[in-house]
Amino acid sequence: MARVYNFSAGPAMLPQAVIEKAQAEMLDWHGTGMSIMEVSHRGADYMSVASKAEADLRALMAIPDNYKVLFLQGGASLQFAMTPLNLAQAGDTVDYFNTGVWSEKAIKEASKFCHVNVVATNTSAVPDRSEWKLSSNAKYVHYTPNETIGGLEFQDIPDVGDKVLVADMSSTILSRPIDVSKFGLIYAGAQKNIGPAGLTIVIIRDDLMGKARSGTPTMLDYKVAADNDSMYNTPATYAWYMAGLVFEWLKETGGLSAMAAVNQRKADKLYAAIDGSNGFYANPVKLSDRSWMNVPFTLKDSALDAEFLKASKAAGLTSLKGHKIVGGMRASIYNAMPEAGVDALIAFMADFARKHG
Ligand SMILES: Cc1ncc(COP(=O)(O)O)c(C=O)c1O
Repeated sequence: MARVYNFSAGPAMLPQAVIEKAQAEMLDWHGTGMSIMEVSHRGADYMSVASKAEADLRALMAIPDNYKVLFLQGGASLQFAMTPLNLAQAGDTVDYFNTGVWSEKAIKEASKFCHVNVVATNTSAVPDRSEWKLSSNAKYVHYTPNETIGGLEFQDIPDVGDKVLVADMSSTILSRPIDVSKFGLIYAGAQKNIGPAGLTIVIIRDDLMGKARSGTPTMLDYKVAADNDSMYNTPATYAWYMAGLVFEWLKETGGLSAMAAVNQRKADKLYAAIDGSNGFYANPVKLSDRSWMNVPFTLKDSALDAEFLKASKAAGLTSLKGHKIVGGMRASIYNAMPEAGVDALIAFMADFARKHG
């Protein structure tokens, strides 16, 4: 059966070459007579997979030596709690930008553990520097570089001076090169640009570990994870292996600069199609702050939504339904979405507008 272009926000498309490699290795990994799923995480075979994945990620993102890379579980959602538990004590102030649904979830969770100061709120444009209200004593500043639901993306890293910057990069990690040294902590659920669900990547500066508040569960302490090479308990071995295959694929396809060029081109042409549709399609985000990864759009007549989804699916373009909070459509065009998939979507949208405009 032919594969479709899947525009899901996550779990999302994986590169076909990666799935094919995993398929070829499924029954007999490297002559062991076992699937990599069936081997001990403490054995030499698995350790080589785990450490190669980490080395490749470090190379791809140019992660400095004074950062640990952790392969955890619990999704980005667990990081909403782990961040304040590890980086702040009860009663401390922490700063959060609110740029949409995911920011709000992070804020809600952090509020259980600390005093949260909201630096600025804006869901359709990156808050202007003049609107920021940073607190003088915040233990860290948290932001969501890419709001997966609203399609709002910071194109630049916010300058928060000497404050520890924390970023939920779930839906933008690996989409382009970033300067890791600007961050204290980066986290991301895997199921968009990294691999299958079940794995969470954390990149944390060494000096920020070992200060978790008392009472922090062992499994939620970054230092415990780091001291045990992310194997304090059994890690998500298969998801980690798959992430390793994705990192290999990224290296083979030219790394993050090459990926960024394709991603920008894909996003630019899709937004151009929306903006050039004479109002048939619309995207509410300020031009300069539009996401490269998640492109929400509405149809001028929402009564056509069901027909759009039905016809797009029939054309091999799936999972375009927008998040239930915002409605409309959303095309998630992560690294693994081929440019041809975006071209096919654009052609479909033009045709649909012609028929129904
Ligand atoms: C920006 C962002 N943060 C957090 C999450 C939650 O991630 P998880 O399901 O891995 O907990 C998501 C999921 O879509 C997301 O897009």
